[in-house]
Amino acid sequence: MIDLSDKIAVVTGAAQGIGLAIAKKLAAAGYHLALVARNEDRLVSAATQLTGDVQVKTYPGDIADWEKVQAITEAVKQDFGAIWGLVNNAGVTKDGLFVRMKPEDWQQVMDVNLNGTFYFTRAVAPLMMRQREGRIINISSVIGLTGNAGQANYAASKAGIIALTKSVARELGSRSVTVNAIAPGFITTDMTADLSEQVKADMLQQIPLKRFGDGKDVAGLVTFLLSQDAAYITGQTLICDGGMVR
Ligand code: NAI
Repeated sequence: MIDLSDKIAVVTGAAQGIGLAIAKKLAAAGYHLALVARNEDRLVSAATQLTGDVQVKTYPGDIADWEKVQAITEAVKQDFGAIWGLVNNAGVTKDGLFVRMKPEDWQQVMDVNLNGTFYFTRAVAPLMMRQREGRIINISSVIGLTGNAGQANYAASKAGIIALTKSVARELGSRSVTVNAIAPGFITTDMTADLSEQVKADMLQQIPLKRFGDGKDVAGLVTFLLSQDAAYITGQTLICDGGMVR
């Protein structure tokens, strides 16, 4: 078991994309890490890419499975002894025009994005309350603020995450546990790889910084929110989108 004074963070969806960028940045910043994602091989390969004198453990599993989330949280507690930070990053899209959207596509996105964020927060919050310190960071999206044609399910799940963040921040504040959301804009990952060149060109027009974001851009904000410098920030949604959303 690791010394309680050490900084320990759980990152979900850490096998690739933004989650992997967050894990890399946190490992370099000295955080011991519990990495969660569905695909065990990818997760193990992600862990080997981290540098830093830190302990890294992998916990494969589906965040949409409450029993599994509880089991992972117990295992992390056994292995590390404490949890300072929880980064609810795992998420999926299942896009389609609303009038053709199948209930199962709605449900799948809700199950992972909103329920998964609830499950992990629900499993970890009692420990953080007992510790009287902790940080919860939920990865939402600018789509949760603006809505988007073809993404009614995704937008609703990400807006739900913002409302969950604000509510849980109010409940955990008295125990010095902060809860914040990050709303990234267009970040280049597998999730955005399938968009057509035309859609990408149109989006670029709307970004004042004239580039798509990188996982590192989100990881920098996560590192700040986990730090002592962010101790007086809670219930907020920080937008990281190159200035796209006004
Ligand atoms: P990605 O598709 O590249 O990676 C998603 C990660 O989540 C993978 O590691 C995958 O294994 C994991 N995951 C998915 N479903 C899971 C489940 N049921 N249980 C456990 N792990 C699961 O996605 P990306 O782009 O890195 O996105 C990460 C987060 O950032 C997501 O919540 C996404 O909605 C959000 N986001 C992404 C943006 C982008 O432009 N890429 C923009 C705004 C928000």
